[in-house]
Amino acid sequence: MQQAARAAAPPLAAARRALSRAGLRARCSAAVEGGAAAAEAGAEAPSGRRLRVLSGVQPTGSLHLGNYLGAIRNWVALQDTYDTYYCVVDLHALTAAHEPRELARATRSVAALYLAAGVDASRSTVFVQSRVPAHSELAWLLNCCTPVGWLNKMIQYKEKSRKLGDGECSVGLLDYPVLMAADILLYQADLVPVGEDQRQHLELTRDIAGRFNTLYGGRAWKGMGKGPAPSGRARGGRVLKPPEALIPPQGARVMSLDDGTSKMSKSNPDEGSRLNLLDSADTIANKVKRCKTDALPGLSFDDPERPEAANLLTIYQLCSGLSREAVEAQCCSLRWSEFKPLLAEAVVEHLRPLQARYAELTSDPTYLDGVLAEGAARANETARATLGDVRDALGMMP
Ligand code: AMP
Ligand code: TRP
Repeated sequence: MQQAARAAAPPLAAARRALSRAGLRARCSAAVEGGAAAAEAGAEAPSGRRLRVLSGVQPTGSLHLGNYLGAIRNWVALQDTYDTYYCVVDLHALTAAHEPRELARATRSVAALYLAAGVDASRSTVFVQSRVPAHSELAWLLNCCTPVGWLNKMIQYKEKSRKLGDGECSVGLLDYPVLMAADILLYQADLVPVGEDQRQHLELTRDIAGRFNTLYGGRAWKGMGKGPAPSGRARGGRVLKPPEALIPPQGARVMSLDDGTSKMSKSNPDEGSRLNLLDSADTIANKVKRCKTDALPGLSFDDPERPEAANLLTIYQLCSGLSREAVEAQCCSLRWSEFKPLLAEAVVEHLRPLQARYAELTSDPTYLDGVLAEGAARANETARATLGDVRDALGMMP
């Protein structure tokens, strides 16, 4: 019984421990909760290999505090325990209008930000999605077993396509979540650390893996021939591993500076709505000075009528490293005009080392290009094994 509980739930518990060791608060919610017994489990898959983590960010616009607090910062803590893969998803960036002269630069910049934030190329595989052709190929194979009705229901697709209209909305935008599923399933990732907005895409990834396994795994796969599958494992059972989303308890949905009820986003035309990771100290101070507030006295984390207060206190907490209780004690009786300089300073100080490392890394492009070349080689190797099994299970010619 205990064995079963362990097998069902190890990734979450170990992830919680990894994040808590890094001071990122112990609780971590996942799209699929593992249960209490998970508390004692380790970060090893039943196969004996280290559990795998994969995540990515699109090279569109400037990365902001939402990307960092919701995703990238959490990636760093996971490197100690997991086999971590972090990619820059440039193919995803093509699903919306993009500037060709900017893409390569933006791709390098996002990779440099991963490293500047603390992703360590000697412990993580850092790579550019399009340099591993298996992502596109698996996306096609998964397209052929994904009902279009599943994609039509995706909230992000509905929102973006409504804004664009039929004439401008590409097939790629509809297909975006299948490519994302391919990114994850190629590596048989156990955990995917992302912000709250990706929860539905992770559920879809699980559904796609489940459908593929039902249609082509198990007995059907076993029947494809004797001897091992291309990856070296025995045929039969599931071909693809359904992953779990790892969504942090705080910072999973950082809100816009101009509206505490909408998400901080790269695509908001108002620059003042977000704090970018590479903003100067003056820009940060100005944006904070101008951000939306309310007319109530004091500050509160919990008042549903005060989304701006909750958002800015959370950003302050995460950037200052203080506990929630300490932030409450320090800030709840402050006026906005007293709190804002504290907030700006905490953000500036938190980002200072990241910005310094970024400047260093980008002053030597050969280093970064070397990291990305090595990462692509490693990622290609891992991806090839899964793609081989998928082709095998589908009955394609070797
Ligand atoms: P994107 O900018 O869409 O490529 O998102 C990259 C990562 O940042 C994903 O894991 C998102 O869930 C996360 N993310 C984006 N915006 C926010 C936000 N406002 N708050 C928290 N996480 C976010
Ligand atoms: N869709 C994700 C986002 O916009 C980016 C992404 C693409 C991703 N592929 C992924 C995230 C794989 C995690 C894992 O944020």
